[in-house]
Amino acid sequence: MNVAIIGTGYVGLTTGVCLAYIGHSVTCLDTDADKVAALKAGKIPIYEPHLENLISEASERIRFTTSYADAIPNAHVVFIAVGTPPTPSGNPNLEYLSQAATCIGKYLNDDFTVVVNKSTVPIGSGNWVGSIIRDSLEARHGKKVNGLFAVASNPEFLREGAAIGDSLYPDRIVIGSDETRALEVLYTLYRPILDQTFQAPTYLPRPEDKGAVPLVSTDLASAELIKYAANAFLALKISFINEIGQVAERVGAEITEVARGIGLDSRIGSRFLNAGLGWGGSCFGKDTAALVATGREYGLTMPIVEAARMVNQRQRERILEKLLQEVKILKGKTISLLGLAFKPNTDDLRDAPAIDIARHLIERGARVRCHDPIAMDRFKREYGSLEVQLCDNADQLFEDCDAAILVTEWTEYRELDWSKLGRLMRTPILLDGRLVLDRGELSKQGFRYVGISG
Ligand SMILES: NC(=O)c1ccc[n+]([C@@H]2O[C@H](COP(=O)([O-])OP(=O)(O)OC[C@H]3O[C@@H](n4cnc5c(N)ncnc54)[C@H](O)[C@@H]3O)[C@@H](O)[C@H]2O)c1
Repeated sequence: MNVAIIGTGYVGLTTGVCLAYIGHSVTCLDTDADKVAALKAGKIPIYEPHLENLISEASERIRFTTSYADAIPNAHVVFIAVGTPPTPSGNPNLEYLSQAATCIGKYLNDDFTVVVNKSTVPIGSGNWVGSIIRDSLEARHGKKVNGLFAVASNPEFLREGAAIGDSLYPDRIVIGSDETRALEVLYTLYRPILDQTFQAPTYLPRPEDKGAVPLVSTDLASAELIKYAANAFLALKISFINEIGQVAERVGAEITEVARGIGLDSRIGSRFLNAGLGWGGSCFGKDTAALVATGREYGLTMPIVEAARMVNQRQRERILEKLLQEVKILKGKTISLLGLAFKPNTDDLRDAPAIDIARHLIERGARVRCHDPIAMDRFKREYGSLEVQLCDNADQLFEDCDAAILVTEWTEYRELDWSKLGRLMRTPILLDGRLVLDRGELSKQGFRYVGISG
């Protein structure tokens, strides 16, 4: 099929590349001309494992453009994957979505096209996008036009850092539309993934137990709500374990043991039960806020989701309180942060706890040093005005610092030469914001180890 993808960010680029890899002919469109020029020159604007290999393998079936006139007319399926960033009201900003829909309407041809919302959008946005496309299409034709397109929702569940595997071997695919024709087209599009008939990349083999992928084919509103419900549930699992972490700390229990003990119950499951600094990133905060805002529009309160948000915010404050207890005075002290990205294996800094923590420390008069294995270039571009010192290696980061906080649990941080680093510090205080370091071992090396829970 001919596929157009509008928006080549984390979601659009991954989707486009994976669809090209399984055999479709894909045109990726972005209004950011620099991004498109970079992609045309073979440069990948984001860090995502395996993306580069997959693009080069699919290069004959994928191209990049800034032109709607180029991308839309021949497409059988148009995916909208533009950003929907949060606004202070909790509702996402739908400006990019509306611009994309207007442009799509301008260039649809006379063959039936399925327009798919892959961006995470509030319930009802599918109908809204449909009405914008129709207005734009009818303005062009100067008359009423019927049956040229249908809108579908196909929420995205990929995790940054594991996006390619999540797209090729998903747990499920959800499609929603009020028109059967649209669902049929999407079923055909995804068939190689649903049946797992494509040849797996050698560097990302198909998991041994991977069978056919379940398809949830439903109406528009249900598909849209599935995305919000999924993210809210994952977010509250994280906040739940963080709330239990507070009790664990008070009663002298080990939260990692508690999480293991409950996670082995198959009704609960062990994933998303890591106590720590809480979630960050572009989705959980924005999507839980949007769900609460949607509830409000219908006169509903959503106390469970609101509490999950509150607990998450509190985690960021807790690490600062703990730091203060240790160093007493922040003014003039040097505090080092291990990790900037909101989680390992990505360079995404949106709603990253490290940014909040750094800002707060600077406001309190501390000097802040940071390191990240991947995200420092992006940090320089996006947060260049934040007065932190970026360090290329651990020695620089730790030398003469008064305390260090592990913010992002990159694997390499577990393998640092801690005894050497401890000796470089002015005072060997280490706050483990992700509970991934070995407390016993670090204490033996002379560190004052402080976990976020206990
Ligand atoms: N990032 C994730 O992990 C993830 C996971 C699931 C769902 N989502 C959702 O997917 C959507 C996209 O997220 P993302 O992280 O890929 O965003 P992103 O910011 O990385 O990418 C969005 C892209 O859209 C482009 N764009 C904006 N307006 C445009 C327009 N009118 N025409 C063409 N391009 C335009 C931007 O230049 C940008 O490159 C959001 O709704 C998000 O909530 C994201």
